Amino acid sequence: MANTYKPKNILITGAAGFIASHVCNRIVRNYPDYKIIVLDKLDYCSNLKNLIPSRSSPNFKFIKGDIGSADLVNYILLTESIDTIMHFAAQTHVDNSFGNSFEFTKNNIYGTHVLLEACKVSKGQVKRFIHVSTDEVYGETDEDAVVGNHEASQLLPTNPYSATKAGAEMLVMAYGRSYGLPVITTRGNNVYGPNQFPEKLIPKFLLLAMKGRTLPIHGDGSNVRSYLYCEDVAEAFEIILHRGEVGHVYNIGTKKERRVIDVARDICRFFNLDPDTHVKFVENRPFNDQRYFLDDEKLKDLGWSEGTTWEEGLRKTMDWYVKNPDWWGDVSGALLPHPRMLTMPGVEKYYDGSDNVTGTASNGDVNHSNQNRMVVVPATRNNVSPQKASLKFLIYGGAGWIGGLIGNICEKQGIPFEYGMARLDDRSQILFDFRTIKPTHVFNASGVIGALNVKWFEAHKPETIRAVVVGVLTLADVCRDHGLLMMNYAFGGNLEDKAYSTDAFYFRTQAKVGS
Ligand SMILES: NC(=O)c1ccc[n+]([C@@H]2O[C@H](COP(=O)([O-])OP(=O)(O)OC[C@H]3O[C@@H](n4cnc5c(N)ncnc54)[C@H](O)[C@@H]3O)[C@@H](O)[C@H]2O)c1
Repeated sequence: MANTYKPKNILITGAAGFIASHVCNRIVRNYPDYKIIVLDKLDYCSNLKNLIPSRSSPNFKFIKGDIGSADLVNYILLTESIDTIMHFAAQTHVDNSFGNSFEFTKNNIYGTHVLLEACKVSKGQVKRFIHVSTDEVYGETDEDAVVGNHEASQLLPTNPYSATKAGAEMLVMAYGRSYGLPVITTRGNNVYGPNQFPEKLIPKFLLLAMKGRTLPIHGDGSNVRSYLYCEDVAEAFEIILHRGEVGHVYNIGTKKERRVIDVARDICRFFNLDPDTHVKFVENRPFNDQRYFLDDEKLKDLGWSEGTTWEEGLRKTMDWYVKNPDWWGDVSGALLPHPRMLTMPGVEKYYDGSDNVTGTASNGDVNHSNQNRMVVVPATRNNVSPQKASLKFLIYGGAGWIGGLIGNICEKQGIPFEYGMARLDDRSQILFDFRTIKPTHVFNASGVIGALNVKWFEAHKPETIRAVVVGVLTLADVCRDHGLLMMNYAFGGNLEDKAYSTDAFYFRTQAKVGS
């Protein structure tokens, strides 16, 4: 067995989320001589209440911030003398990754890269970097396989979430090899228990069953998953922290597998619901791995074993959700069969128990799938005037910052809105959005700005013209045909700034559209 490592100052990322909150609370409780710093940007799925057991401890500190901010991460490493990082922060919901997968690349790959680089420049200060990955990086296991994936198995991710987790792992491995960073990687099976945001299967089913509603199952429910109780997983991280060997990968797994349909039936049984009437099969994910089967021997050799039976863990989890139904406030959006980032807490969609979404294609001239269409209606507020209720905003660029802000304003103001899915240089797609959404006002905050800079546009003139000129003008033309007001958010930039020349191709295209 490896020598015991003794950390002093641990940075835990993402600990306002599910798994890391259990790990943090456990380490704060068991090791009063360790200092624990939590860095979390408090995304929709997080909750500071998850850290209540740690909050009053003198060895605990919470910092709200993004792992993607190099300045912040460097500052924390330096000022808190961090010698150990346990990196959990990530975008974690596979369903979301079928929508805006750029967020997954940004948080999971770029965020990890920033942390690694900060370790590199701290020149040997960080003695352990524990990178938390997932079983999903192996891709799906054959149904009839009797041997699980071991740590040296090939990584074959099948969805954008697992691809970004695998990408992050590659960087971790490379920093271990190139710079001698003392890295350890974990790949875990599914985890369940208290504090888990209800977009995930078990808490979603529990909350729906509590209300006597139907449990939506993707596909036919034959997919198999392996579930570990959160306290067992927190213990696994405690062991890996102290006894894990640098440069190694550890699966955190269980051999006890369960079909999704059986999970639903077990939950129905707890609530005395008849599965025949309370389980409903809905459209499957674009790709849904059949099974993730891990070989967990290596971690067992470090002294870990699973201590909680399925019955016991599910019972404890159910008791917790029954006692804390409002932990996150309004989570109606997360309880949908296919929640997306558009359906965050407090945002409701018309859901009648079926997987059909109001406003789907009827004549099918454009191939939009129901997966991506979502009628977003602000949570009912008493102060919504009939005038606001008659408005319907169509917003393009919902994945971006400004588009997201407009959506947030609509939510706060009680104005119904929907994010458009059309490519703006394709008139037929815009017409489809107009027919199905029936907007009263159109906002365009789409574009190709993001991380791109003015130089990029010089080198990509056709793409720039398509997005900045053709797209905007096509949308404007369709709005004119329909007598609709359109608000276009062009990028002004700071023209005083010498770094931007007003002669730049990008600004010239913007000026063309503006005139
Ligand atoms: N939940 C599972 O079943 C499971 C299984 C295996 C592995 N994992 C991995 O374990 C880790 C934790 O998963 P979870 O289910 O607890 O996640 P979660 O979604 O409950 O929590 C993620 C946390 O990370 C934070 N976060 C996200 N991006 C951030 C950023 N850029 N900067 C700072 N904070 C950020 C969020 O605010 C949130 O608090 C993830 O890396 C996930 O891939 C999860």
